[in-house]
Amino acid sequence: MEIESLFPEIKEIKNIDLLNKVAKSLEKAIQQGGWSTQDLHKIPFTLLIPDLVNEDLTVKISIIDHIRAVTQMCLATYERYEMLGLGDKLNRDELIAGGLLHDIGKFIEYEKDETGHIIQTAEGKYIRHPAMGLELVYEYDLPLIVRQAIVFHSKEGDKIPRLKEVEIIHRCDFLCFAPIKQIFEENK
Ligand SMILES: [Fe+2]
Repeated sequence: MEIESLFPEIKEIKNIDLLNKVAKSLEKAIQQGGWSTQDLHKIPFTLLIPDLVNEDLTVKISIIDHIRAVTQMCLATYERYEMLGLGDKLNRDELIAGGLLHDIGKFIEYEKDETGHIIQTAEGKYIRHPAMGLELVYEYDLPLIVRQAIVFHSKEGDKIPRLKEVEIIHRCDFLCFAPIKQIFEENK
């Protein structure tokens, strides 16, 4: 599995040790979920927008598209912070790593049923991808920002003080969900 071709944004991480850990984490998640490269592009980024899935089971916005868009939005936000003279207040490498890994648990929260439809696993329903993701990457000793991005990017983190970078990831993630949901609902 070529992680760099699936997620070209990973090359933006300058710390090679962190880059390797991010690649290994993604590889492990995809392998553990049992997804082939072809399958990966047929995983919708959320199950809350049913119209993302076409009749032939191809999808309009896949989990890969979403992770890449969120990471690119994080990078764009970082550039705006640089423009404001605040770039050095953010950890760029860990922001990118957090963007790439925030939804890593979705690769095991979802599964393909006998008909080819993507559904939530039983465990996914009760533990959800943030906690499943954190469990999945435990062996890589990832930085605090990246671990918090995985476990608290979502509503689970609403009562937890989010680190600056995680605040950005959380908001970019939401930007890549709520307006999209509205667009699909309008088009019904
Ligand atoms: Fe996400």
